[in-house]
Amino acid sequence: MDQPALEVAGLVKRYGGLTAVDGISFRVAPASVLALLGPNGAGKTSTVEICEGFRRPDGGTVRVLGLDPRDRALRPRVGVMPQAGGAYPGLRAGEMLRLVASYSAHPLDPGDLLDRLALTDVQGTAYRRLSGGQQQRLSLAMAVVGRPELVFLDEPTAGLDPQARRATWELVRALRADGVTVVLTTHLMDEAEQLADHVVVIDHGRVVGAGTVDDLTRTEAAGQLRFRATPGLAVHQLAAALPTGTTVGEAPAGQYVVTGTVDPQLLAAVTAWCAGNGVLAEDLRVETRTLEDVFLELTGTELRP
Ligand SMILES: Nc1ncnc2c1ncn2[C@@H]1O[C@H](COP(=O)(O)OP(=O)(O)O)[C@@H](O)[C@H]1O
Ligand SMILES: [Mg+2]
Repeated sequence: MDQPALEVAGLVKRYGGLTAVDGISFRVAPASVLALLGPNGAGKTSTVEICEGFRRPDGGTVRVLGLDPRDRALRPRVGVMPQAGGAYPGLRAGEMLRLVASYSAHPLDPGDLLDRLALTDVQGTAYRRLSGGQQQRLSLAMAVVGRPELVFLDEPTAGLDPQARRATWELVRALRADGVTVVLTTHLMDEAEQLADHVVVIDHGRVVGAGTVDDLTRTEAAGQLRFRATPGLAVHQLAAALPTGTTVGEAPAGQYVVTGTVDPQLLAAVTAWCAGNGVLAEDLRVETRTLEDVFLELTGTELRP
């Protein structure tokens, strides 16, 4: 990575006796999407608010586009969608977005943005009268209308209906395609899976896992092949035909599970052995790990609500 768009090193944030951020480090490549994934209370908002220059850290360093997060030169270059609020309650939605756009030298077209986020019909409505989901989408529009180089989106789809979530995802993808760096927080696995080039899993203020979704879910001996066939196959013979370290079991009768590094070669070896032994493997399925499985392994907990 040349110069990362964002670099966080050894970040610490305490609130009284609570260490909410406990030595978090990560880097974000330009024009990529990073998801900070973790349950409520993990320290996501504290981390991004320090990166946004809204809170001061108790330890560690942050560089945003190479600068200190409080550097005023960052204002036109960074967009922020806070977890809640961030607007003038009396202004109408459309006015507010146009006002924010007017601060920028080369804004996106506010009308187009309202359209993409299904806000055109409510552009004449005062902010405080918008529904929660509409306020949230307007807040997203305000974060990106100035064509920032880097945007922070704190739980951009929390509480949105599925349609609005899709619209938000589409916008994030479009931003990335335009070369914008996106840092978003989420407690939703599928959101991280859908959008993120890199995922940083945090729990109790620490990084407990990081990498691409593929890195995180790659089956290091954790995958399985399952199939159904006549009971009593010679499982030790099948195992002998497979790479070392692969195990084969039958339980219950007629249901087979092959555990090992699940890759195309393993699948081919299993089906070749079946073909050679006149075995028709029914319901053959490949089970690899999901981000959810990984999360469970990393934190020992399901995502807390
Ligand atoms: N201003 C604050 N004062 C005291 N405690 C806080 C404050 N902000 C956050 N916390 C606590 O810090 C922890 C991390 O919170 P937060 O950064 O909001 O996590 P997340 O965004 O992942 O839910 C939580 O236990 C939360 O209650
Ligand atoms: Mg939060």
